[in-house]
Amino acid sequence: MPALQAENVTAGYGRTPIITGISLTAEVGSITTIVGPNGAGKSTFAKTLVGILRTTTGRILVDDVDITKMAGHLIPRNGLVYVPQNDNVFRNLTVRENLEVGGFAVKGDNSARMEEILTIFTDLAVAREKKAGYLSGGQQNLLAIARALMVDPKVIVLDEPTAGLSPAYTDVVWNQIELISATQTAVLVVEQNVERALKQSDFVHIFVAGSNHVHGPASEIATLDLASIFLGRADAKGS
Ligand SMILES: Nc1ncnc2c1ncn2[C@@H]1O[C@H](COP(=O)(O)OP(=O)(O)OP(=O)(O)O)[C@@H](O)[C@H]1O
Ligand SMILES: [Mg+2]
Repeated sequence: MPALQAENVTAGYGRTPIITGISLTAEVGSITTIVGPNGAGKSTFAKTLVGILRTTTGRILVDDVDITKMAGHLIPRNGLVYVPQNDNVFRNLTVRENLEVGGFAVKGDNSARMEEILTIFTDLAVAREKKAGYLSGGQQNLLAIARALMVDPKVIVLDEPTAGLSPAYTDVVWNQIELISATQTAVLVVEQNVERALKQSDFVHIFVAGSNHVHGPASEIATLDLASIFLGRADAKGS
C-alpha cells in the first residue's frame, strides 16, 4: 500500500483549474520526484495535497485514510507534511525553537524526537541556539525539512528544496533526502533539475500544463525525449 495516494486530483485558485486529473503515489522507502516547466502546476499540486488549496475533484489518501476534506491543521497529525518553496523557517527563532514549533502538531514531549533529528542533521546540531535568519540558505532549507520531520510523518512533500543552492550544498540536501527515505517516511520532491531528479529518485512524474501524462520509473523516463515532453508533446517517444 502506498503511503500517499492522489487520485484524479483537480484544483486551482479560482474557477479555472490549474491542475487536472493528477494521479500519483509515493511509497515508503522510495523517492518520487515531480519535474516540469515553470508554471506547470507543481507547487499548486503540492499545496493541494496538504489542504492549502482544495480539490474540486479527486481524493487524497495517506495510509489509506482519506484526508481530502480534512482541516488543514489535522493533516500533519495524520502523517502528511509539506515544506514550501520559499519562506519556510521562522527567521527570528533559533534552530531549536523552529524544531519545537514543528513538534507542536503532536502532543507530548518532543525532545527525544528533536535529538533523533539532530543526529541526522549534523549542520543544525552545531547551530541549535543560532537564529534561523543567520543560517545560510541551504541550512535554512535543511531546517525547514527537519522541522517538518518533527511529527514523524508518513509522507514528506518538499517543494524545490535545493532551489538557489550551490552544487555542493545541493548534494548535502539530497544526502539528507536519501537519509529520510531510508526511514519509514515516503518522500515526494519537486525538483527543478531534471538530471538530478532522474539520478536521485525511483519514480518521476513530469508535469506539463497541469497534467502528469508522462510518469514512471526514473530508468524508463530517462530514455524519453524530455525536451519535447517539456514543450508539451506528451506523445513524444524516446530517441
Ligand atoms: N496564488 C495564485 N493565484 C492565482 N494563480 C496562481 C497562484 N499561484 C500560482 N498561480 C498560477 O498557477 C499556475 C501554476 O503555478 P505553480 O506555482 O503551481 O507552478 P510550478 O510548476 O510550481 O512553477 P515553478 O517551477 O515556477 O515553481 C501558473 O500559471 C501560476 O501563474
Ligand atoms: Mg513551484
